[in-house]
Amino acid sequence: MKIAPSMLSCDFARMGEETRRLEEAGADIIHLDVMDGNFVPNLSFGVSVIASLRPYASTFFDVHLMVREPQRYLAGLAKAGVNGVTFHLESEGDPAETIAQIRALGCQPAVAIKPGTPAEAVFPYLDRLAMVLVMTVEPGFGGQKFQPAMLEKVRAIRAKAMASGLDVPIEIDGGVNDETVAEAARAGVSICVAGTSVFKAPNPAIAIAGLRAAAAAAEG
Ligand code: DX5
Ligand code: ZN
Repeated sequence: MKIAPSMLSCDFARMGEETRRLEEAGADIIHLDVMDGNFVPNLSFGVSVIASLRPYASTFFDVHLMVREPQRYLAGLAKAGVNGVTFHLESEGDPAETIAQIRALGCQPAVAIKPGTPAEAVFPYLDRLAMVLVMTVEPGFGGQKFQPAMLEKVRAIRAKAMASGLDVPIEIDGGVNDETVAEAARAGVSICVAGTSVFKAPNPAIAIAGLRAAAAAAEG
């Protein structure tokens, strides 16, 4: 299981140091939540903040775009040096076009689905995605309760990918802790985003290692 700590729960007054701290703590991916106050009822940070964080770690930067018009931000994100861009299928624009634009900019494309969106919505794009993000909470805020029913969608997407001869990693985001990471591992999730459980822990390195160990134990 790869662990992708979410910067949404870090100390925003010290974001550079927090980014470096995540790399030192062994984060596989750094998850950066961009919100526009429109697609979700919250604001976080944008392209220029991400650009200023880039020098603090060489870890894979995955941007989770929770914005109404994802295509507006792609060129800026690529210029900022991000590695992956995850956008919501519920946002505006043709998803196939957005995926192609992300690839053309040299980044890895992924799509995210909110809890109310069925697994089938991602099926048409599976052959061109680097990852699928199944939200396990309503996007917008950290610290919410994990929705276990979302793991059925993980199973459905995995089954469809395997039947099509594709190996697309599935990520979940929201409410991940030592218990829920184990359930996710059993459902075939390969990447877990974790905000609260990493940053509210006394030691992020121990928290990340603990999540990985809990997932490994569940996988058997
Ligand atoms: C929520 C964000 C998440 C958030 C997760 O909309 O997409 O990445 O930081 O936070 P926790 O792990 O606290 O649920
Ligand atoms: Zn996120």
